[in-house]
Amino acid sequence: MFETLKAQPADKILSLMAAYRADPRVEKVDLGVGVYKDADGKTPVMRAVKAAEKQLWDIEDTKSYTGLAGDVGFHDVMRRLILADAVAAEQIAAAATPGGTGAIRQGLELIKMAAPQATIWLSAPTWPNHPSIIKYLGMPMAEYRYFDSATRGVDFGGMLTDLDQAKPGDVVLLHGCCHNPTGANLTASQWQEVADFLKSKQLIPFVDIAYQGFGDGLDADAYGPRHLAKTQPEMLIAASCSKNFGVYRERTGLLMAISQDPAKTPLNQGTVAFLNRQNYSFPPDHGARLVTMVLNDETLRTDWQKELEDIRGSMLSLRQQLSDALRKRTNSDKFDFLAQHRGMFSRLGATEAQVEQMRESHGIYMVSDSRLNLAGLNAQSVPILADAIVAAGV
Ligand code: LMR
Repeated sequence: MFETLKAQPADKILSLMAAYRADPRVEKVDLGVGVYKDADGKTPVMRAVKAAEKQLWDIEDTKSYTGLAGDVGFHDVMRRLILADAVAAEQIAAAATPGGTGAIRQGLELIKMAAPQATIWLSAPTWPNHPSIIKYLGMPMAEYRYFDSATRGVDFGGMLTDLDQAKPGDVVLLHGCCHNPTGANLTASQWQEVADFLKSKQLIPFVDIAYQGFGDGLDADAYGPRHLAKTQPEMLIAASCSKNFGVYRERTGLLMAISQDPAKTPLNQGTVAFLNRQNYSFPPDHGARLVTMVLNDETLRTDWQKELEDIRGSMLSLRQQLSDALRKRTNSDKFDFLAQHRGMFSRLGATEAQVEQMRESHGIYMVSDSRLNLAGLNAQSVPILADAIVAAGV
């Protein structure tokens, strides 16, 4: 049987991680996978998460199963974190999932059950695992223009023109904030326009929010999903706690299916629980429990928000440092977009050959589409990267 298996295409981001690890050069710089690193290149356990872990060690007296959809306490804190008071709890069916990827996968499976003909519309470009999972599930997909490589901003006109081709009932996958891989994001008024457009075209938003708190702050970053939740008859949200709680390997995510009509919630809830049962039974609980403890405890929450704000501030400062260094070297405003983008990533606009050249000459690792993780930089590596960008003729 196994001899019939075919080798699968390598994931660009994960193969880059392996190539970086194998590079013996000490001065190498990892701007690949989306993991936050501090100035020493470490990905620390956040203080509040560590404190919650200590408390949990004392108070946890069972490892027995939670609910099939996870712990309702986790659903509740995440609903408040992401949606504030945009919708009532009764309008939301929720299931804890193994990470944000798990939430995306479960959301897609729900769409496949409910509307197998629906096309999933993806931004061009998007996180490569989006089309990969959709293809694996055999679902129809299409792309809408998103990134304008000339301005390095959002091609909003192109986006709406392309989405005008969608048929009622199609699903539009949107990045809630901190677009991955481009770093270019919708403004509040563009979110409002998108909401009106989706509603008038009867399109269903599916929001992937994996970087809340990394862009303009916890509330500002949730503007889009909150506005959609208030205005759309139905929507899905896949949320990840990997980045903003730094619990990457704990696999902590949540799928929410939101309906204006609360009468639909019991069926939605039964469906997401059923999907969990089919795929992995009970979702992992450890990370979800830590997140719940942090968000429910005023002291832990305050400390978590402070650390998250520091992380956000350091990424903004690295953006500014890189943009300034490039302004100096090129005597132009060509790279000012780096300071305007938000989140961990920006797409630099380099060709694959230039990306390769920067890897060979300066040991700089970024994804071949020239996505760079700004959080992988520090004060020492900013000038190295700026030199490499100029030397490669980007
Ligand atoms: C990324 O885009 O680098 C992260 O979301 C990690 C991953 O799984 O790809």
